[in-house]
Amino acid sequence: MNEFNRVLGGGLVKGSAVLIAGEPGIGKSTLLLQFAALISQNSRSCLYVSAEESIEQIQMRAARLGLSEASVLLISTSSLTYILDIAKKVNDMGVIIIDSIQTLRNDLIDSAPGTVTQVKSCTMEMIAHAKKSGTSLIIVGHVTKDGQIAGPKVLEHMADTVIYFEGDNTQQFRVVRTIKNRYGPTNEIGIFEMSSSGLNEVKNPSAMFMPASGLGTSGSCIFAGIEGTRPIMVEIQALVSPSFLATPRRSAVGWDVNRLAMMIAILGARYGLNLSDKEVYLNVVGGMKITEPAADLAVIAALISAASNIVIPREMVFFGEVGLSGEVRQVIQYESRLNEAIKLGIEKAVMPSERKVLTCNINRSWIKHILELKKVINNRGDHKNGPVKEY
Ligand SMILES: Nc1ncnc2c1ncn2[C@@H]1O[C@H](COP(=O)(O)OP(=O)(O)O)[C@@H](O)[C@H]1O
Ligand SMILES: [Mg+2]
Repeated sequence: MNEFNRVLGGGLVKGSAVLIAGEPGIGKSTLLLQFAALISQNSRSCLYVSAEESIEQIQMRAARLGLSEASVLLISTSSLTYILDIAKKVNDMGVIIIDSIQTLRNDLIDSAPGTVTQVKSCTMEMIAHAKKSGTSLIIVGHVTKDGQIAGPKVLEHMADTVIYFEGDNTQQFRVVRTIKNRYGPTNEIGIFEMSSSGLNEVKNPSAMFMPASGLGTSGSCIFAGIEGTRPIMVEIQALVSPSFLATPRRSAVGWDVNRLAMMIAILGARYGLNLSDKEVYLNVVGGMKITEPAADLAVIAALISAASNIVIPREMVFFGEVGLSGEVRQVIQYESRLNEAIKLGIEKAVMPSERKVLTCNINRSWIKHILELKKVINNRGDHKNGPVKEY
């Protein structure tokens, strides 16, 4: 499971506690059942505790995932004492999976499962057992509507590694992201595709969020992004339309809507593109969530393209942070962005100037200010390698 290994920071550390959080139906149980089957195949015992489903239900799911033959130890209980009893009886237990922590109860504590006291106490006891026995612990935590893990943030501090399933279950792709890791980098992402046979790893994720053929319409451009240590090319779409509302609508999927408002203000003040009477929609294609400021330039380009109805060619990528005066600021990891872009057939990159001249075999336009985009977009990328001088 390379994608899962990646978010774990290279693998599961002995005696560590991993928290996997996400909305109901996103695929936590599916992923962990698949993981449990793989672990037990590799001759380590794996205990899968479900306090939500009966043994029959888990077996039905396993059959659907083609894992009926796997020798995973299954128990269906909500009793902490019982789980610890079983865990202590098995020699060389590799992994214990708790699905989910909110349904577990410590009988010594007089409050209902899912309350802060219960969740905290059960987690503490399980972690203590994991540390002592060298067993790795994986805890499932449900996320409530407002994005908090019910029971709540307390869990994040206790776990060594915290992994979130992003988005919702209407998306075909499921992105898991490391939020915290004592043993590896954070912000690392793993990408899976949900199918009837479970979560399948996506082999070439950087191409997943790119359009197969030309963008065709205005308002789209490709952002050469970095998520964790992984370069990923993502299509960003913008739509600008007249508004009849006193406060025109601004909406963003996969990006911060406040940052979008900032970009709209910068376009008005520093580029001369006034969108104050327009509705503006921004969409990151495929359910990706982008947090990098380096996406600013791509968002600006998509907005200009949408407003001016000029199509940006698919063979062109954008990246760079945009400051309040419209200046294009440097970001990190130019080379991996560019090399990935080259792999996917991109011919031109619009980006901040390079600190050192790179040897990448791709046409690069270094821009210092967003005004230079006028020339770049009007010429549809028909420019030479180097700085854009006049505009
Ligand atoms: N019989 C089925 N065929 C295909 N997909 C299914 C089936 N049952 C469940 N799924 C998929 O699995 C998902 C449920 O995943 P699950 O691992 O139970 O989520 P979680 O544990 O995070 O609540 C559903 O959103 C659905 O897409
Ligand atoms: Mg579940």
